[in-house]
Amino acid sequence: MAHLFNRNVLLGVSGGIAAYKAAEIIRALQQLGATVRVVMTHGAQEFITPLTLQALSGNPVHTQLLDAEAELGMGHIELARWADLFLIAPATADVLARLAAGRADDLLTTVALATPAPLLLAPAMNQQMWRDAATVENVATLKARGAHLVEPAEGLQACGDVGPGRMEEPTLIAQAASSLFQSGLLAGRRVVITAGPTREALDPVRYISNNSSGKMGFALARAAVDAGAVTTLIAGPVQLATPEHVQRIDVASAQQMLEASLSALPQCDIFIACAAVADYRPAAVNAQKIKKSGEEMTITLVRNPDIVATIAAKPDGPYTVGFAAETNDLVAYASDKLRRKSLDMIIANDVSDPEIGFNSDSNAATVLWPGNGRQDLPRAGKATLARQIIQLIAQQLPVAE
Ligand code: PMT
Repeated sequence: MAHLFNRNVLLGVSGGIAAYKAAEIIRALQQLGATVRVVMTHGAQEFITPLTLQALSGNPVHTQLLDAEAELGMGHIELARWADLFLIAPATADVLARLAAGRADDLLTTVALATPAPLLLAPAMNQQMWRDAATVENVATLKARGAHLVEPAEGLQACGDVGPGRMEEPTLIAQAASSLFQSGLLAGRRVVITAGPTREALDPVRYISNNSSGKMGFALARAAVDAGAVTTLIAGPVQLATPEHVQRIDVASAQQMLEASLSALPQCDIFIACAAVADYRPAAVNAQKIKKSGEEMTITLVRNPDIVATIAAKPDGPYTVGFAAETNDLVAYASDKLRRKSLDMIIANDVSDPEIGFNSDSNAATVLWPGNGRQDLPRAGKATLARQIIQLIAQQLPVAE
């Protein structure tokens, strides 16, 4: 079923008569569950006011590239990172030309260059302009670069012409947006993901843990479901809602996470270890609350089992993907973990930057796999990054027998 729950859709509106339909597009996207923000070109504001689109989207509408106030709040780079999808509807012939040329001469085209999110274009123009060789070439260029298109419909146009060029209906555009997230790349595969921190108890009220929020692992679970996988999420203690169609198993300690992972193995083709597992746990858990005594206290810690290495070592085990959380020498340490833990892939993220990694909404990663495979994924929202990681896994996965 089409849906866009928890998706951030940035709607770019350019200046054509179909701009008035942006109001209906916002509604259609919201009905599928999306959060919508709007960027308008100067021309678009001649056809529909920012106030209308602000009232409908429930968010301020962005119109200026050089707006000091906006840059302090949600500036062009923040907007670009916020978006899980950049939908430009209507996309005029002029906007298609500027996008194809890589121009950044207003807010809309600048965000299009700056965003790592997929680009979906819903063109609208006169039928002759749509058929013109220049437009045909621009559309081909944009498609070759990975842009997606909602082909314009045929019919009577505002100018009186009949032919192709009329922007597709808002509900169909919203459905096309939703279908971009439902790739089917992992249809028939079973994915198990660990997420969040572990808690290693000291006594009934105290524990050792870390700042993992679970957001990255939950985003991966969502992306795996969207890719058609049967998905199990083994979650440490986090405050997040379970994504739809995900089977969730809650655990607290590393030992419990290991047991849950081993139990899930018979139903697992791909294992993704995103959890921040405590490497050590207290050697003993006090049955009673530990009392204060003296100025110092010593706690003896013992090594926890390495969950991902245990799974990777299983004969006929799943395709195993680990994460590497590093504060320095990211690639060197991650390559070492890839080899030492016998992983099929590792996602290295820099956790020294508070804007990415632990407990943030964004992340950036370098993905490595054996045979010197490498792909850098620039900073993006965790939903976007998760989708890119799932896509890479689908590409690298051995073909099912
Ligand atoms: O949860 P968020 O706030 O969204 O933050 C996401 C994240 C930063 C936690 C995530 O992107 C991440 O980097 N997760 C791995 C954190 C970690 O423990 O990294 P590590 O380099 O210490 O461990 C390497 C790999 O071994 C990881 O796949 C880890 O899950 C696994 N491991 C580690 C120790 C252990 N005892 N068992 C394991 O399976």
